[in-house]
Amino acid sequence: MNQPKYKPRNPNFSSGPTTKRPNWSLSNLKSANLGRSHRSPECKLKINEVIKKTKKILNLPEEYLLGIMPGSDTGALESALWNLLGNRGVDVLAWDNFGKDWVVDVVEQLKIKKLNIYEADYGYLPDLSKVDFDNDVIFTWNGTTSGVRVPNGDWIPDSRKGLTICDATSAMFAMPIDYRKCDVLTWSWQKVLGGEAAHGMLAISPRVVERLESFISSWPIPKAFRLAENKKLITGIFKDNTINTPSMLCVEDALDALNWVEKIGGLNKLFERSNLTLKYVSEWIDRTYWVEFMNPNEGTRSNTGITFQIKDEWFKKINENKQRQIMLEITNKLSKEKVAYDINGYPKAPPSFRIWGGGTVESEDVRSLLPWIDWAYEEVKIGLEF
Ligand SMILES: Cc1ncc(COP(=O)(O)O)c(C=O)c1O
Repeated sequence: MNQPKYKPRNPNFSSGPTTKRPNWSLSNLKSANLGRSHRSPECKLKINEVIKKTKKILNLPEEYLLGIMPGSDTGALESALWNLLGNRGVDVLAWDNFGKDWVVDVVEQLKIKKLNIYEADYGYLPDLSKVDFDNDVIFTWNGTTSGVRVPNGDWIPDSRKGLTICDATSAMFAMPIDYRKCDVLTWSWQKVLGGEAAHGMLAISPRVVERLESFISSWPIPKAFRLAENKKLITGIFKDNTINTPSMLCVEDALDALNWVEKIGGLNKLFERSNLTLKYVSEWIDRTYWVEFMNPNEGTRSNTGITFQIKDEWFKKINENKQRQIMLEITNKLSKEKVAYDINGYPKAPPSFRIWGGGTVESEDVRSLLPWIDWAYEEVKIGLEF
């Protein structure tokens, strides 16, 4: 098979950190307040601007509080778990690697006794109708490593006794989210907006504040994750007073990304960009004999962690180690040609490809990449001995 004629202009298709926005340049960060205290008025102004702009662009409910947390999405989510759980039973749902990590937190670290776990294999959702909303409920809006998202928030009742804690890191800014069905929402800068690592965002509903101000968990909470002191919310976190020191370079970069979103037309434009990327991949999969989505259900298919696998008979017959070796050969070929970096599926997921489809990716780049994947597949297949 001949090599395709056109290469993607940008070969960065990693699922995190994801590619920077189009035309990003380090020089855009010139006005970063470097070498200044993050508690100085100038820096606090910038921190507050990130929070306010994020809230506005996302159209988060007015009554929700939003703060910047250490430790990226993991830090924000685990802070919610450690501060809020222990008050009642817990239901936890998991259908990808990270959801499964939250199960480990709840079972092995927090040792919650009254617990229901709903797990599903890669490519599928667990049965959402089984969830007990008298309990606190932990779930992931979009399983980044499996390409499966919840279809909407209709399965979550408005009147619920427990809190819903949602890891939305690969969903925020890419797909509609029924915010009011989630009492906690977490995400990171390094995901959909292509920001820098290590900073997380935590949005909380008034019911979360109520819990923090009426209940103290029985386990210790490190300072980096503490949201309340003596049953009083630490309000500064949700304004401009981060728990510890953030990088003002990353703050400037987050602002740059938010300004770009405003410039291109806001949240819906980001949704459109991701949907178009998914459409290009879907059309290619429809006409390609050897590949299929890992998630067979179109209604829950992710437009960010776009995950697909080889369905050719010969590939299905060989063992998983050999399959992984072949995936590596294919994806190495693509990175050697500077056509695509980091599109081998998540190491703990079944052997698969994963192309990031968040809004900082140009859909046309994905369109140019697809024939290259065909090319690399055929090249590797021809080289094998059967
Ligand atoms: C669903 C989900 N949760 C959590 C994480 C961990 O994110 P971070 O490394 O930003 O803490 C990821 C990273 O890809 C993710 O996809």
